[in-house]
Amino acid sequence: MLFTPYKLNESITLANRLVMAPLTRCFADDDLVPTEAMAQYYAKRAETGLIISEATVLRPDGQGYPNTPGIYSEKQIEGWQKVTVAVHEKGGIIFSQIWHTGRAAHSYFSGKQPIAPSAVQLEGSVPRMRDLSYEVPHEATQSDIAELVKDYAQAAINAIKSGFDGIEIHGANGYLIDQFLHQETNLRSDNYGGSPENRSRFALEVVKACIEAVGADKVALRLSPAAYFNLNPVEGDAETFIYLLNQLNELNLAYVHVGMFDDTQPIDYLDGRVSDFIRRHYTGTLIGCGGYDQQSANEDLENNVVDLTAFGRPFIANHDLVSKLQSGTSLTEYNEDQLSQLN
Ligand SMILES: Cc1cc2nc3c(=O)[nH]c(=O)nc-3n(C[C@H](O)[C@H](O)[C@H](O)COP(=O)(O)O)c2cc1C
Repeated sequence: MLFTPYKLNESITLANRLVMAPLTRCFADDDLVPTEAMAQYYAKRAETGLIISEATVLRPDGQGYPNTPGIYSEKQIEGWQKVTVAVHEKGGIIFSQIWHTGRAAHSYFSGKQPIAPSAVQLEGSVPRMRDLSYEVPHEATQSDIAELVKDYAQAAINAIKSGFDGIEIHGANGYLIDQFLHQETNLRSDNYGGSPENRSRFALEVVKACIEAVGADKVALRLSPAAYFNLNPVEGDAETFIYLLNQLNELNLAYVHVGMFDDTQPIDYLDGRVSDFIRRHYTGTLIGCGGYDQQSANEDLENNVVDLTAFGRPFIANHDLVSKLQSGTSLTEYNEDQLSQLN
């Protein structure tokens, strides 16, 4: 089933059900502008049904890693145009993953104290920059939140201007939106915290603002109900995601995407795998992700657990993953040394 087409919506049909998961590579230039090498890297993977770009910083205080690309300056928009043209020339479809890291940002990059739902510090230090410990974030005011929502929508507009076919809002992996959704990081007592409805408010405002800016067919959302990265689960978190997914059912998004490194095991408080949990509560297109190989991806498609399957690390190791899977050629195995080169 992996190689059958999939109609995402009236405007987008994918050639197959293989998706390239978003993969941060840290190869943008020092102004966070995508380079020619990045254009070639994505173009080489254009035979996948849908490419989701690496997470892309939507404004300077959202940056949490060195040389991650941005989508707020004219130069960055032009840099992305090179990428989208190269992918489209090869017949590919590419969404931009738009990103604010919230408390996982660092003032080293922007000169600004990180912003988050509450002043709850992330333990540890910035990856690749071990001497930079995470800082105590500043609790977003209501006007900060309104500004952030506008900035997500502007990033969506910029992405479409860059030639992307759509955007995936990064609501996963313990970054800003996920920090609002989880109780460990959201201690607010105003209308953005304290109940499933309130914790979901920021995510829903961002989604609706992006839909208004570029249309629902071009807007998607990645979610991590399991709180497995940069976060710890708290009893009752599942209710927030149940509420949120029910609300999303009304919005006709392009898709919802599982944000997980390993979705092969059940999670107690979600009553199954993350993909099972989302499938139970969400009626639209679902992309599964986290530990797939060809067999498990086909099984999930055939059992209707998900509609599309995303692969991450195998795409770093194999630019020709789709052809290799299709022809039964053995894959190059992923290892972290491959992260030092973009090819
Ligand atoms: C090097 C690396 C970078 C990643 N960058 C991102 C990212 O920018 N955005 C995101 O949502 N997930 C990111 N992820 C998670 C992947 O999208 C995916 O969920 C994960 O690799 C599990 O899929 P896999 O088992 O097929 O690799 C990254 C993972 C790796 C290994």
